[in-house]
Amino acid sequence: MTSDVSRDGVVLVGCGRLGSAMLEGWLATGAVAARDLIILTPSDKPVANKAGSKGARINPPLKALGEAKTVVLAVKPAMWRGALGALVSHLNPEAVLVSVMAGVRAADIAAVAGLPVARVMPTTAVAQARGVAAIWSQDARALTAAQALFTSVADVAPLEDEGLMDAATAVAGSAPAFIYAFVQALAAAGEAQGLSPDAAARLARGALRSAGAGLETGEGLDALVARIASPGGTTRAGLDAMAEGGDLARAAETAVRAAVERAKSF
Ligand SMILES: NC(=O)c1ccc[n+]([C@@H]2O[C@H](COP(=O)([O-])OP(=O)(O)OC[C@H]3O[C@@H](n4cnc5c(N)ncnc54)[C@H](OP(=O)(O)O)[C@@H]3O)[C@@H](O)[C@H]2O)c1
Repeated sequence: MTSDVSRDGVVLVGCGRLGSAMLEGWLATGAVAARDLIILTPSDKPVANKAGSKGARINPPLKALGEAKTVVLAVKPAMWRGALGALVSHLNPEAVLVSVMAGVRAADIAAVAGLPVARVMPTTAVAQARGVAAIWSQDARALTAAQALFTSVADVAPLEDEGLMDAATAVAGSAPAFIYAFVQALAAAGEAQGLSPDAAARLARGALRSAGAGLETGEGLDALVARIASPGGTTRAGLDAMAEGGDLARAAETAVRAAVERAKSF
């Protein structure tokens, strides 16, 4: 089933890592039908070609953009002014813009386009319809269009304030890397307890997969912890030790703060 946002036409500007991931998710879930898509991409992209074979238009004459009511900006933050500037005069006056670009303020985009803007910060797991996306707009139409694009490919978390976008990026976009780093530290700790490097790495990766499987049940984190940590048991001992030193909370806080500070410096 396709949504209204699809039937009103969607332009995807940029088909790199994130653009391709969104496209894959939309095609897989039917959130946007290929025939309702216009894809603008300077170079050939496999996912765009796949969409093209199902009816999407790739780099059509710019007057075609006037048919679309939603324009998704997925170019690098350094490129957006040039990319959008070339399109503005061809856009539908009733279109809304959905920017997935990190660190580019909605007001700056709106000033160039003269159209309402929503900001979304998704993860590339939207390709598998298992992403997470922070979303913000002060315009109701733009917010609705952005929600329609992302609800079927991500868990959508609305933000009250655009200023929270950087924190959301740290806690969602960057955080998988923080978690991988913790898993590496777990493997190293396992080696310190005598496991071979191979066994430690496989066990730690397996632990992450198992944790992910637990999350997929939809249970809350406290309930998931309680399933594993029985009172007086080994897991409880490890959790208590982590909580007592405060190191885990401190590491998470330090990583998120550093990522937010870096985002603000761009
Ligand atoms: N990757 C992520 O996980 C992620 C997550 C959240 C947000 N973001 C945001 O998403 C945006 C894209 O990131 P990315 O990682 O996907 O970068 P990327 O892989 O470099 O993709 C950017 C794409 O934009 C294309 N492009 C450049 N100029 C264009 C133009 N004038 N018209 C149309 N397309 C144009 C490039 O085409 P060519 O390949 O032909 O040069 C490239 O494929 C960034 O603003 C980033 O902040 C990314």
